[in-house]
Amino acid sequence: MILKRDQLRQLMKNKLMKAGLSEKDANITSETLAYSDARGWHSHGAVRVEYYSERIAKGGINTNPNITWKKTGPCSGILDGDNGVGFTIARMGMQKAIEMAKENGVAIVGMRRLSHSGSIGYYCEMARDEGLIGISMCQSDPMAVPFGGSEPYYGTNPIAISAPSANDENMMFDMATTVQAWGKVLDKRSKGESIPSDWAVDEKGNPTTNPHEVNALMPIAGAKGYGLMMFVDILSGVLLGVPFGGHVSSMYHDLSVGRELGQIHIVIDPERFVGSEKFKEDMTKSLSELNNIKPAPGYDKVYYPGQRGKIREEKSNKDGIEIPDEIVKYLKSDDIHYNRYDHKNRFAE
Ligand code: NAI
Repeated sequence: MILKRDQLRQLMKNKLMKAGLSEKDANITSETLAYSDARGWHSHGAVRVEYYSERIAKGGINTNPNITWKKTGPCSGILDGDNGVGFTIARMGMQKAIEMAKENGVAIVGMRRLSHSGSIGYYCEMARDEGLIGISMCQSDPMAVPFGGSEPYYGTNPIAISAPSANDENMMFDMATTVQAWGKVLDKRSKGESIPSDWAVDEKGNPTTNPHEVNALMPIAGAKGYGLMMFVDILSGVLLGVPFGGHVSSMYHDLSVGRELGQIHIVIDPERFVGSEKFKEDMTKSLSELNNIKPAPGYDKVYYPGQRGKIREEKSNKDGIEIPDEIVKYLKSDDIHYNRYDHKNRFAE
């Protein structure tokens, strides 16, 4: 069913408030989820509301957290989220980082003990909109094998960056460090199709093309993606004193306890380096040069990261967003959740 962006946001907000969130937290969460759906990242949009609602209702997201901020130096600080709403805490962390970077040129803010914060590129765009470079990384629950391993250790540990440009182009790179999300495996299962051999491994650690035999996901680009997952875990986990690597809590293990996740934002003011105007001009030049690269056979154009998402968002804002009927039915219902996610394995099965 096609919903207008604001209608979708309002339905999600109502449901999250019914589950127990304050109006402020429900507003922030629903805005970020609607952003993901509008950009075409449906894996991090309305599809998650039932899971969040179950976790909120069972106490695994603290609806009245004691969030504390400690500035640890001119350019650094730690926000302790007390297992409150990840979307709110990640946004607060970026606001703090923007303030510090404007004052001192660079800022690194660690957020500890937060719940899932969705599409992390959203926070980088907050910095970009202020003329700054925004970088973010966060932990996610273990579901990927380290290169050469047969058991999961790291999560899909995403990494994102957004940078300003002279014509406000939407440069925003945001990716999970696994080849594919688990949702894409589920999609193949439901269609009775096989998966490419570089997506996942079976119980023995062998690459599998059977979506029903998947035991863990594979890092992007072999050992290099494995290194990137570690990179993310060092900065957003080990550095912040939260559970790291294989100790990160599973999304679906116990919905009554907080997730204790870590996330880090890094903000850089280009004024302190090449100068803001020169940086923006050269960014625009670089993005335009990329767009003018001759496309390879089968491609219409070379896009820069974030460009296609912005095109999708503009279309979504005009024509509405396609949301599966069953999700709309749930959002419109009086039910808070259907007890579907608690005490499941890492794939919520
Ligand atoms: P994706 O594979 O759809 O895109 C990855 C990046 O590649 C994007 O920046 C996109 O702009 C760029 N890209 C894709 N195709 C392109 C093309 N043809 N030309 C130029 N650039 C192109 O994203 P992925 O890895 O599936 O992640 C989706 C979302 O999931 C992200 O927002 C990420 O933050 C979120 N995520 C959040 C997690 C969490 O625990 N909070 C965990 C994992 C992912």
